[in-house]
Amino acid sequence: DSERLPIVANLSNCHASLTDAGVPVYCCPIWKDGDQELVDFQFPDPSSPMRIRRPIHKIDDEYRAKYARAVEIMKNLPDDHPHNYRRQANMHCLYCTGAYNQMSSEALYKIHRTWLFFPWHRAFLYFHERILGKLIGDENFSLIYWAWDHPDGMWFPEMFKNGSLIAMQRDPYHFQHAVDDNYARVERNLTDSEQILDNLALMYHQMVSGAKKSELFMGCKLRHGVSGFCDIPGTIEAAPHNTVHSWVGNRNNPEREYMGAFYSAARDPVFFGHHSEIDRMWTVWRRMRGNKHPATEFPDEDWLDTEFTFYDENVRLVRIKVRDVLDHTKLRYKYQDVDFRWLNARP
Ligand code: C2O
Repeated sequence: DSERLPIVANLSNCHASLTDAGVPVYCCPIWKDGDQELVDFQFPDPSSPMRIRRPIHKIDDEYRAKYARAVEIMKNLPDDHPHNYRRQANMHCLYCTGAYNQMSSEALYKIHRTWLFFPWHRAFLYFHERILGKLIGDENFSLIYWAWDHPDGMWFPEMFKNGSLIAMQRDPYHFQHAVDDNYARVERNLTDSEQILDNLALMYHQMVSGAKKSELFMGCKLRHGVSGFCDIPGTIEAAPHNTVHSWVGNRNNPEREYMGAFYSAARDPVFFGHHSEIDRMWTVWRRMRGNKHPATEFPDEDWLDTEFTFYDENVRLVRIKVRDVLDHTKLRYKYQDVDFRWLNARP
């Protein structure tokens, strides 16, 4: 293992890439990331207040308005600003469609369906949250999560149907019913109460019975330079992650854009509520496995040293490693959890 190289993006050559259906897309910035100075990530001050990410169905109108305002400011930034909303969405596109090659390799750098899934998205959300906070001058600003694991959160969140949080490309038929956390692009037409039970049983499997080993929960081990990268998502990534993406996206679009396709998913602001919930599930799974296990999911140095780059709230291009994001409390945020109804949903 010690000889394996960590995965690092070759920023000097951002190029056109392909959607899941093989359609060319171009998500690169108009500037060259390779020309920017790259700085190492610094943890926030350990004495700074914890930002608390709360469930969307429990926040008040004032917070809803604040959230919408921050996103609106982000959407109104000039197109060539790294904090512009569309640029933020394209950061996701870059790392999911393979717009960068890996350093010292021809292989593309892609983070989905591998053990990079949780760490990459955590870092993405972290910077997105800090940027939104900066835009409204509130350092304690925090993201909010769509609690599709709890019966009270199993509907498409109303607040995302208004103002800056709207995305036109969604499935209008789905919003009258409870979300199908296991949606396989086929309508199951369950009643809401049947759907809720089905969702809870799925959650139990994905979090507990089907997730007893790190690889099962986190995804397969992507190694540097492997061109046919590994392709086995962890339980939560497969569902509800992928499934809720497709459930939200517009069924009349070729790839169910926006949410249904990696390249366009983050154009829908609900992406960030969805991914905060995913990220929360990682914190919950980690807590549940307790200290019966080694302190980290994988001891592999190549994983721990794998790097991602993001623009921070001060518009510096920052290099952050997997090892930096394993303990979310060091990033100074945590989740206000809702009760885990699925824990009792053992079949
Ligand atoms: Cu990077 Cu929800 O996908």
